[in-house]
Amino acid sequence: MPVRAWFPTYIYSEPLVASATSLTRLNTEIAAECRQLRDFDAAGRKWSAKNYPGGYTSYASMNELHRFSSTFAGLEKKLTRHVRAFARTLDMDLRGRAIRLTDLWVNIMPPTAAHSLHLHPLSFISGTYYVVTPRGCPGLKFEDPRLSKFMAAPPKLPGARRANQAHITYPAEAGHVLLFESWLRHEVAANRTAEERISVSFNFNWS
Ligand SMILES: [Fe+2]
Repeated sequence: MPVRAWFPTYIYSEPLVASATSLTRLNTEIAAECRQLRDFDAAGRKWSAKNYPGGYTSYASMNELHRFSSTFAGLEKKLTRHVRAFARTLDMDLRGRAIRLTDLWVNIMPPTAAHSLHLHPLSFISGTYYVVTPRGCPGLKFEDPRLSKFMAAPPKLPGARRANQAHITYPAEAGHVLLFESWLRHEVAANRTAEERISVSFNFNWS
């Protein structure tokens, strides 16, 4: 083959733990805590009304949940193992430093709520853990990081290989962890199901 691909963009997707029974138990516990948090977090509800229409996120109000809740501290431990594995795949030289979860927050998307295109500043690896994912709820849509540089490039053929397409959507699957480098832009389309979709997002740093 005379042509080879270089400079790949990596996305990691794995179940949080191997046991489906443990995942179900854990997600029931996390979902209850997420809903309690929404009831309790008036500042977060106020911020969400303005910045996360129709939904609730603790992003701007309670974004260090792993420091205050044993449920989320347990989740931190499990996520850290996945992030280490991902950093190894990326051949990152962490110079002997530890990787550290800096922010962890809750997202509840009732019907119609959406999350527009964004990235995660001040971190190196970010991700989402899915807690409640009603059938047909939106996944996480990633954008080719070179999109702004394509200039005069023609569009892709309808049947283009997936790796050559400008977007890729990972389905939201309860119990799964998705990891990506924090600069990779992504969005969540509107929730068109009749039920709430719940996820926990987080940022990691190395220091
Ligand atoms: Fe995000």
